[in-house]
Amino acid sequence: MLLVLNGPNLNLLGTREPDTYGTTTLADIEADLRDAFPDATFRFEQANSEGTLIDCLHEAHEDAVDGVVFNPGGYTHTSVALRDAVAAIDPPVVEVHLSNVHAREDFRRTSRIAPACVGQMSGFGAAGYRLAVRFFVMRED
Ligand code: DQA
Repeated sequence: MLLVLNGPNLNLLGTREPDTYGTTTLADIEADLRDAFPDATFRFEQANSEGTLIDCLHEAHEDAVDGVVFNPGGYTHTSVALRDAVAAIDPPVVEVHLSNVHAREDFRRTSRIAPACVGQMSGFGAAGYRLAVRFFVMRED
């Protein structure tokens, strides 16, 4: 089972700053993953609050989820608590960003969470989610 966890404002994908994030909705991304990986089992969660995201990560640990694909949104750049949650759990976490955070404002270049992750996908749009899932599927092969 893989958890695909999305943070604040990602529920607005499709209409949110389309020049930066495209017009693909979160529902489109989730449907694409189900289509691309028919043999995988997914849990999809999105939350705007930090505490709920932490609870989702703890539940992934308790439920022995195999891997987490996590787009922490704006909390990427601020949240020590989310980083601590990622570091506290057993399932490996891949951080995903639709946009290339390294090519944008200076404050987006730092991820507080990436050092606790296996790696980071940034700038591949919705394909970044597929690439992250592919990594987990390859690990299992
Ligand atoms: C984002 C990048 C973050 O800097 C931003 O705050 C987001 C979306 C991305 O997917 O590109 O909300 O995580």
